[in-house]
This record gives sequence, structure tokens and C-alpha cells, in this order.
Amino acid sequence: MRYDCGAWSSDLRRAALSLAAVLIAGALVAGCHREPADPIARAAANLTTEFRAAYPTEVRSVGTGPEYALIAAPTVLPLLDGRSLAVWAYNGQVPGPILRVRVGERLRVEFTNGLTEDTTVHWHGVRVPNAMDGVPGLTQEPVHPGESFVYEFVPKDAGTFWFHPHLGAPEQIERGLVGVLIVEEREPPPYSQDVVWVLDDWLLGKNGAIDPRFVTPHDLMHDGRWGNVVTVNGRVDTSLAVRPGERIRLRLLNSANGRVFKPDFAGLDAKVIAVDGMTTARPLDPDGFELAPGNRLDLDITIPPDRAGQHVRVVDRFVGDRPNGLGFIRVEGAPVTTPVFPSPAHAYVPKWREALGVPPALRFVLNAERGGPFGIAWTLNGVAATGDHAQHHGGHLPLGRFARVRFENASFRLHPMHTHGMFFKVLARNDVPVDEPYWRDTTLVHAKETVDVGMVPLDAGRWMMHCHILEHAEAGMMTTLDVAP
Ligand code: C2O
Ligand code: CU
Repeated sequence: MRYDCGAWSSDLRRAALSLAAVLIAGALVAGCHREPADPIARAAANLTTEFRAAYPTEVRSVGTGPEYALIAAPTVLPLLDGRSLAVWAYNGQVPGPILRVRVGERLRVEFTNGLTEDTTVHWHGVRVPNAMDGVPGLTQEPVHPGESFVYEFVPKDAGTFWFHPHLGAPEQIERGLVGVLIVEEREPPPYSQDVVWVLDDWLLGKNGAIDPRFVTPHDLMHDGRWGNVVTVNGRVDTSLAVRPGERIRLRLLNSANGRVFKPDFAGLDAKVIAVDGMTTARPLDPDGFELAPGNRLDLDITIPPDRAGQHVRVVDRFVGDRPNGLGFIRVEGAPVTTPVFPSPAHAYVPKWREALGVPPALRFVLNAERGGPFGIAWTLNGVAATGDHAQHHGGHLPLGRFARVRFENASFRLHPMHTHGMFFKVLARNDVPVDEPYWRDTTLVHAKETVDVGMVPLDAGRWMMHCHILEHAEAGMMTTLDVAP
């Protein structure tokens, strides 16, 4: 499918319930083939053309998919080193269940709130209809204790996604409410194993329980709440048994409130094949990739026969002098024949070399100030969104057209900026062009750094944009973006 005037008019036709929309559609279609006179408009139009439906507006439906029941409730589980830990869990598990659906199938999740406080479920990275996005006060009412809400949508992109509460997130996510949603390809590549590793950390008090002080001044003055125990799938001793010759797909998710991970695969031949769910343009070296809160990384790892008998420890090296052991890959057993198939990493991703010639449609200065309900507020353009999400408007992005957005970090802290409802490509860091051959839904903005991103939003709605350090978001670093014609 080509992204052209035809796609525009059909999108609009679907929305054309009102006379106004019909008139706008008419005007756009009529104006569509005219070359924009102004050079900036022409450059933006070329960037839209270069997008070429890199990911689709709509997906061919393949019918009804799975139905899941999901309940959030307190429980006690053997976690970390096996001790009993009081947590809040989806379906009694931490991390929650792995939900699977095939791309184009309708997923139905009947969610029940078994907590004693309000919650919602947000489908991080999934291009859902706006009403299914799980944002309280904006796309739905909070789900009160004892109540249910049905989430139903057809995922348009195959890949690794996740779900979590979008209300009271610093506490609800820290206490264990995290789950993975895998959207399978129409023909999943034949890896010998498909494994999920949820990376997280926990801040425990002296008594070994989850420290009940949330969104503290310390969290707010730093990069959110960093824990004193690092886990993979809720355990400090996670280990994956593989046989020599296996070719595995390892899906990493960072579900921590604030911690960034930089995984080191100890010389194993690991290639990145997807970032934030979306396949990359080519297989990439994972060295140095910073997995910020919210980010996912899919790896294609072939276990060489000469590693037989070894226990390979994957190590996080984000803080150089304080490495954290993550999980083990234990190579044992009789060798197997390596599955041979082309790497799935061959997505079309536009280069957008001309993108920095187009001025930013929106610009956000990231900073902190004193005051607000937590004593310290985190702001976007001087505004802290600590009330109703629906009250905050960060700006408009044109549906189906290229836009550049600029983040200017005026602070000395980290801000993994995340957009709902769309992917973006990093164009430049500190005004130096970069060509990341992949899409993201979350990018780390380092201390005092300026990051430019480009996107062609294809899904209409009012979408959240926020820092994924949950404490920063809670203390104001959130807004909404209107994607509309
Ligand atoms: Cu994973 Cu708005 O968040
Ligand atoms: Cu932040």
C-alpha cells in the first residue's frame, strides 16, 4: 500500500460522520495533488511520501482471536531469591501472564480490578483505538475496585509489547502489575525457543518488604525510584537452559520505574532484530543499547557449540562501576542443528535525511521546579500535569503527515520520553544527525541533551506523551498530543 492521497481520503471518509469532516475531506482531496509552494511544506510532504506506509494504517483482519480474563489483586509470591513477597499481581503472577495474539486477530481482555484502589490497563506500544488506551479521565473512567472493563482491539503490528496500570503507576507497577503482550507475526520465524525476560528492580525496606514510600523527594530529585534488588522475571536467579546450536529469540522488557539497563551478552552472538516491538531495518549489534523504562529489545541469539558447558551471565553495565548480574544462559545437553532462516530484521525504515530541514512542529522543554503536590514538579514547557489528563494539551500533530518534535532537556536528570499511539524515529541528538534504523515508542533523553524525533502518526486520537520514569510523570511530566487532520 502506498501512503498517498488515497489513504488520506479513505481515513477521512471513515471519520466523515459530520458535515464538517466531509468538507475538510473534500478540501484536502482537492488540494492533494497540488505541489506545496512553500519549500518547508514541500520538504514535509516529501518526508511523508518517504514514510511509504512503513507501518500500516489498517490491518487485514484475520478474525477473532483469544479471550483472556485478567485480574489485578494483592497476593504473596515466592520472588527474588525465593522468599515470600507481598505484591500486587495480574492473575496471581509477577510478571503477569504473557498474553499472545496473532497480528490482525481481535484480542479481548476482560479485566477485573481486585485491588482496593482505582486502576486501568494501558497497552504500551500497541496502536489501539484511542478508547482502548487505558488512560483514566482521558480515554476511559478509572476501573473502581470490584469493577470490570473489557479491552478489545486488533493489533496492527507484530512484536513485543506490554501492559501496565496508568493510574497510581509509581506504586502499582513497582508492586508488580506488569505483563507482556506478544503479537505474533502471521508466520512466526522458527526459533528453537521464544523467551521473555522482564528486567526490573525492587526497592525493599529493612524488613525485606517493598518500601511503601512512593514518589519521594529523593525519587524526584533523581531518576525516579531505583531499587536495591535487580530481577529477571521477578527472580535474582533466572537462568535459561539452551543446547549448543540453538537459535533463540530473547525478548527483553525494562519494566522498572526508573532504572536504565545496558545489557552485555558476554561475547555471545546476539543481534537486535526489534526495538519497542517493531522489527529493525537490519540486524544490529546490541552493544551499548540503553534499555530505558518502557523499552523492549528482541534479540536473535545463536548458541555456538564451543560454549557447551558454560553458564553465560548477562550483565547490566549502565552504571559503569556498578554492574548488575541479570540472568544466566546455561549451555548444556547434546548439540542441536541450528535452525536456518533469514533474519526477520529487514523492515523498511525511512532514512529521513532531509528531516532536520523541517522546523519542529512541537518543542518541549523538560525541567523541574519547586512546588506542586510532591514538593518538586517535573514540567514540560513550564507546566506540570498533576491533575486531570484531559486538562493538558501538548499540541496537535497532523494525521498521516510527517512532523518533527523536539525535546530539550534543561535538567540534569534522565527522561525516557514515551508517546502513546505512534512510533517515532530519532533524527538527531544535540543537533547531530543520527540514523537509527528502527522505530521507537520511548527514547532516553540524557542530562541537558536535545533530541529530535520524526513521526507520521496514523492513528487519530488524543494520546499521552510522558516521561516513563514513573515518578517524574506522576509529578507532572505528562501531556497529551492530538492526532487529527
Ligand atoms: Cu508504558 Cu503511558 O506508558
Ligand atoms: Cu523524566
